[in-house]
Amino acid sequence: MKKQKNKFNLICSNCDQEIDEFKEWFDSGQRCPQCGDNKADVVYSDRMDHIEDLLHDKDAYFSGLWRYFDYLPLNKKDNIVSCGEGIVPIDRWRFLEKFAKKNYNLRIKVFAHRHDDNFATGTFKDLAGSMIASVLKENNIQTYVTASTGNVGVAYARYLAAANITLYAFIPSNSSQAQEAEIGCFGQKVFRVNGDYQAAKEMALEFSKKNNILLAAGNFDPMRIEAKKTMVYEWLRLMLDFPTVYIQALSGGTGPLGIAKACNELKGMGFFEKMPRFILTQTDKCAPMANAWAEAKKKGFPEDWEKSFPIYHDPKTIIPTLATGYPKTYPFVSKLVHESGGEINDFPEVDTIPISRLIAYESAVRIGPAAAIAVGGFFRSLSDGLLKDDDVVIINVGEGIRRAPGFMSKLIYKTTRVNTLDDCGLMDRDQYRKRLWEDIIK
Ligand SMILES: Cc1ncc(COP(=O)(O)O)c(C=O)c1O
Ligand SMILES: [Zn+2]
Repeated sequence: MKKQKNKFNLICSNCDQEIDEFKEWFDSGQRCPQCGDNKADVVYSDRMDHIEDLLHDKDAYFSGLWRYFDYLPLNKKDNIVSCGEGIVPIDRWRFLEKFAKKNYNLRIKVFAHRHDDNFATGTFKDLAGSMIASVLKENNIQTYVTASTGNVGVAYARYLAAANITLYAFIPSNSSQAQEAEIGCFGQKVFRVNGDYQAAKEMALEFSKKNNILLAAGNFDPMRIEAKKTMVYEWLRLMLDFPTVYIQALSGGTGPLGIAKACNELKGMGFFEKMPRFILTQTDKCAPMANAWAEAKKKGFPEDWEKSFPIYHDPKTIIPTLATGYPKTYPFVSKLVHESGGEINDFPEVDTIPISRLIAYESAVRIGPAAAIAVGGFFRSLSDGLLKDDDVVIINVGEGIRRAPGFMSKLIYKTTRVNTLDDCGLMDRDQYRKRLWEDIIK
């Protein structure tokens, strides 16, 4: 009998070996069985034949990423693990457009891809959580191991719980109690390792080998990349113009890898002219990629520039989700950025508080610290002359405030302690607004 064609296969990025769906990929340790590479592209056998229908389907059964089930690496809809994620608005932030016009005489459009209120975790990691839980369920995997400092761990904990899959999460000693609680409250097992993130990763690896449990792959994980790529589908579905600039806070780089995957998949189908320019911003407290980029740029991007980057052990950022001190993806992410005509830069972590206050005032959206780094990346792009007239900028607002209660408490602007009614003066909100903007412009 002729073998039925798979819905999708994985193709090794290094040697083009065809890998039969996820079973073979998992069986070979999430590597190519032929050459051992850890990067593989998911390729759909109908070559994106009817993506356009999905973009226009007004009666789609799923409102989130599963609207794109036909182009996600899952065979049966019964295996979808969803917590209502992905009903993500894309807002126009005209206050930033006005700022660009007034201060830089630039005519641009600015949009916020708002993952701040995602249903499960309040971050854009819901997409990966839902995807991974579904694929694991389809492949009868009942336990999973990860090391995490940030939003990925929480998303996995939440979604795997929904699929009744046990997660063992290894967190470094300096992880916040909020992080521990967010993973633990779903009934998942947290191990707090005496050591830094690297130590937590090593322990997770050993644990997974000892107990023969699948270990979460890193930023090249095709499941994560496939989930993230749906952000591009959503731009096509919801926006009139395709973005010319994509701004994101950068940690390990799965976001831009996902965007690039979608752009490659849809290339030549008439949806857009070019991939957006990637402007990726790191916190100044953990900026190995930005530092490597600055160095390469200074030297005029000499041969093999993308291969050299620093490694920072135990970075001192208080934004755990951006604490990737060993940027293994740099050679790939940096090349993408270069090809796109973009930039990798950094932004001062101390300024995330005024930014978050400003955004809450102007848009009523309360963004978390990693998202504030992305908005900071926007301001930096303006002052560094990286934006031009007619740009359509989309900023990934990757997390809301509920992920960072400690950060939220710092946003209190001015409370007056009072004893008597006479102490209670009136306030001028216009003055307040002026001050918020002054804090940014300084
Ligand atoms: C809110 C937020 N922004 C940005 C990032 C960075 O993501 P990436 O893996 O694409 O660098 C993360 C996660 O690491 C995140 O949670
Ligand atoms: Zn291979």
